[in-house]
Amino acid sequence: MADPWIDAYNFAIEIAKKAGAEIRKASVDEIKISTKSSTVDLVTATDVRVEKIIIDGLKEKFGQNVYCFIGEESVSKKGACILTDEPTWIIDPVDGTTNFVHGFPFVAVSIAFVVKKELEFGVVYSCFEDKLYKGRKGQGAYCDEESIQVSDNKDINKSVIISEFGTDRTPSKVKKICSTMERILKIPVHGIRGTGTAATNMCMVACGAVEAFFEIGIHCWDVAAGAVIVQEAGGVVCDVNGGPFDLMSRRMMCANHVDIANRVIKEIEIFPSERDDGQE
Ligand code: IPD
Repeated sequence: MADPWIDAYNFAIEIAKKAGAEIRKASVDEIKISTKSSTVDLVTATDVRVEKIIIDGLKEKFGQNVYCFIGEESVSKKGACILTDEPTWIIDPVDGTTNFVHGFPFVAVSIAFVVKKELEFGVVYSCFEDKLYKGRKGQGAYCDEESIQVSDNKDINKSVIISEFGTDRTPSKVKKICSTMERILKIPVHGIRGTGTAATNMCMVACGAVEAFFEIGIHCWDVAAGAVIVQEAGGVVCDVNGGPFDLMSRRMMCANHVDIANRVIKEIEIFPSERDDGQE
C-alpha cells in the first residue's frame, strides 16, 4: 500500500529547517517580548511569525482546509485545544522562548502529526545546533541521517535525569517542583539537567544522553513531536503517575526504560494543572 503520509513527513522536515533558519536570523535583531499566562511565560514576535510561516507553508503545500492545526501561538489562543480524529498538525514554532530571548543556545522547532489521535510522526529541529531529530511510527528515530537509540543503562544511580521549572510561579507548585528535584538528587543520581526546551529534552532521552525527562505544566505542542521520537528510539512515554500518556494532560514522563521511569515517578510530587483541552 502506498505510504499516505510520506509527503507530509518530508515536508515537515523541510519547513522545520526553514523555520529554524528564520529563528537564527531573528536572534541577531532586537527581540520584541510579550507575556502570556504569567510574567515569566514569554512570547516574541518571532514565535508568532514563525508559526505563521509553518502553517501557511503547510496550507500552501497541501490545501487550505485539508488538515487541522493546533499551534502554540495561534489556535491555542482561541481557547481549549480540541484534538479530533482528523489528521492534525501540532506545532511549537519556538520551543525554548526564554532561551531565545536570553541567547541561551537551545531553541527548537517542534512539529508533530496526529491521525485518529495517534502520533504518526514528529520532527524537532534544534536550530542553533543545526540538528534535526525525527521519528515516524514503526520506522525508527534519527538525528539527521543517523539512527538513534535510548541509553541501555537501567541503574538509576548511574543516570542523569532532566526536568524543568516551567513557567508557573505559584508558591505551592514551586515548592513541589523543588522538593521533587531534591528527592531525585538524593536517590542519588549522577545529575539533573535541563535544556530549557521540552522538545530538545525529549531528544536527549531519545539519543541516550540522559535516562529520563519529566515535567508537569508543559503543553501538547511542547511534547507531541518528542513523544514519537522517544518511542521510536526504544524509550517509553507515560504519565507522571506511571499511567498511559495523555497528550492533552500537560504532564509527561519519558525514559529509556520503564524501570527508570517508575523509580523517578516514586519521587515526583504531583500538582494539578489545567488540561489543554479544557476537560476536567
Ligand atoms: C517551554 C519549554 C520549557 C518548559 C516549559 C515550556 P515554550 O516551551 O518547553 O522547557 O519548561 O514548560 O512552556 O514556551 O518555550 O514554547
